[in-house]
Amino acid sequence: MHTIPQPQPDARPDERLRLSPLVLGLWRAGRVQLPRPRLVELIAASLDVGIDTFDLADIYGNYAGEQAFGDALAASRVPRDRVRLVSKGGVCLVSDARPAHRVKHYDNGAAHLRASLDASLQKLRTDHLDLFLVHRPDFLFDADELADTLRQMVRAGKARHVGVSNFSPSQQRLLAARLPELAANQIELSVLRRAPFEDGTLDLCQEQHCIPMAWSPLGGGALFTADAPDMQRLRTALAEVGEALGSATPDQVALAWLMRHPSGVIPVLGTTDPARVRIAAGAADLRLDRQQWYHIWQAATGCAVA
Ligand SMILES: NC(=O)c1ccc[n+]([C@@H]2O[C@H](COP(=O)([O-])OP(=O)(O)OC[C@H]3O[C@@H](n4cnc5c(N)ncnc54)[C@H](OP(=O)(O)O)[C@@H]3O)[C@@H](O)[C@H]2O)c1
Repeated sequence: MHTIPQPQPDARPDERLRLSPLVLGLWRAGRVQLPRPRLVELIAASLDVGIDTFDLADIYGNYAGEQAFGDALAASRVPRDRVRLVSKGGVCLVSDARPAHRVKHYDNGAAHLRASLDASLQKLRTDHLDLFLVHRPDFLFDADELADTLRQMVRAGKARHVGVSNFSPSQQRLLAARLPELAANQIELSVLRRAPFEDGTLDLCQEQHCIPMAWSPLGGGALFTADAPDMQRLRTALAEVGEALGSATPDQVALAWLMRHPSGVIPVLGTTDPARVRIAAGAADLRLDRQQWYHIWQAATGCAVA
């Protein structure tokens, strides 16, 4: 079995998290059980356009997605230090792979998260993640216990950085009060899901230098497939701004619209199509001016700002 060569440990706890400007997410790849040659192709296309960060979770592909990705990465013979690996734990599915789970639940307790991280490392054939995220806030999370657990992961060298996902501003603030080095909050964010612009999530990320990672940045594809009249209006606005930016495609504009925010939003792409990965990467070269940004906001909300 090919093992990915490991870099020498050089983690400095105060080193800022660095991810590629766009990240490739593997949720859908796990769901459709993308065959290994297709995964290898997807990894190659991503690296080719500078996307070196891959987003996973223990539960993807009914707990089999990390193994499939780890195998594909090994088959790709990509050195470990050429990629950045993000994974998550904290959601517990009812699954034949987890017979002890009687009900779907969240578990941000120390024992579950530690075991989850260890399993991720084994499946991904690595000794560390670049970023471990608490997938969803457990209503029963104890901030002291969770901060301690995450800090220990970094101290043990198993995660270079730690963060959260789907945490509300108050939950993020609570945990960050115990663990100021929270590196990221992965949230649902797109032209179709704009609440984080207004509910304090992106403000808090900016305040805390915590990277907002945007999941479903293209609305899970609804941006291109839904045919309600307001969606047509939004597509027209994306096309108009794309034209003004020099033939940029609507998906590039929708991603660049997110990346324009000063909190440093990093979109997590969900496509399983290498050609779409290559196109999406072009978003990093676009910069919308204010009026273009608000033109899209207005098309998305259906009204001008007050
Ligand atoms: N933290 C969390 O709780 C959480 C939750 C959900 C997702 N995530 C992460 O976020 C990632 C992205 O989520 P997502 O998959 O919903 O993202 P997305 O990029 O918004 O949606 C991907 C979907 O849109 C389609 N699509 C992309 N570009 C298109 C285009 N130009 N025209 C038509 N269809 C297009 C894709 O189809 P093709 O594959 O055919 O291109 C795919 O079905 C996941 O992989 C996962 O890593 C995290």
